[in-house]
Amino acid sequence: MRSDRRIDFSRKPVLNGGLVTLRPVTLADVPLLHAALADVELSVLAGAIRTRAEGEQQRWTVAELEEIYARWGASHDRIVWVIVDNSSGHVVGESVLNRLDLHNRSCEFRIWMSEVRDKGLGTEATRLTMSHAFDDQGLNRVELEVYDFNPRARHVYDKIGFVHEGRRRQALLFEGQWVDAHVMAILASDWYEKLRPDLPSAAVTITRPGRCLRADGVPAFPDPSVTGAGSACGHVLTAYLLRVLRRRWVARAGDGVG
Ligand SMILES: CC(C)(COP(=O)(O)OP(=O)(O)OC[C@H]1O[C@@H](n2cnc3c(N)ncnc32)[C@H](O)[C@@H]1OP(=O)(O)O)[C@@H](O)C(=O)NCCC(=O)NCCS
Repeated sequence: MRSDRRIDFSRKPVLNGGLVTLRPVTLADVPLLHAALADVELSVLAGAIRTRAEGEQQRWTVAELEEIYARWGASHDRIVWVIVDNSSGHVVGESVLNRLDLHNRSCEFRIWMSEVRDKGLGTEATRLTMSHAFDDQGLNRVELEVYDFNPRARHVYDKIGFVHEGRRRQALLFEGQWVDAHVMAILASDWYEKLRPDLPSAAVTITRPGRCLRADGVPAFPDPSVTGAGSACGHVLTAYLLRVLRRRWVARAGDGVG
């Protein structure tokens, strides 16, 4: 869980939470995912269909999904986790980081769950995924799009620290109605600031991806209760000590002047 690791999406670790476990997808998961994807609401909220009636037919066969997930599972610019409900052991959805842009240290995020909603699982799955993106991979930006008719998902993203960046007007035509899409993104600085709600806005400086200092030089330690977030502490402490030594050195040098 080192923040200064090279970004590498071929590393696909298991992410453990209290409510959910995120496990890299395998072909054995495909029949379960196929059944879960029959949930029409998912297709509506993902903007994948033009009418509800269209969603009544399965869009993929198991064989087609096997081909897709085999490709995604081996991909170097995408990590696909299945979301396992810890209380039942059931696969209830997926969480995905994709479209990795190595140069700009960014990627996209999407998530869906069927069977269990509004029980906190989606929030935790999103947090675990963001912790991996920032604390483990050292990314700087994760972005997503969410349709206007999905206030629940927008609320969850907002809670995690995603910032609303813009609106793509009339991005989707669903059942004869235009629907806007919202672009939301979270930066490493948003993520670490969110972990320290006691800090005033914009008080955190990221010295390197995952290494953060408050404006007053005090290290903004990530909350170790969030999986993977304790990793930057050593680096933050080192940066802090270097900063203190530098201040003393500057003060002494100043003493000698004039
Ligand atoms: C979006 C999704 C991942 C969220 O997961 P979840 O487990 O249902 O969400 P949680 O239970 O963690 O949190 C839901 C939050 O939304 C709130 N909420 C529920 N319905 C809401 C609504 N209509 N408007 C605003 N907020 C709403 C809940 O009160 C809760 O907030 P709180 O924790 O502050 O009380 C899940 O609902 C899902 O997969 N939905 C279908 C697919 C989808 O929309 N994917 C996203 C596409 S961009």
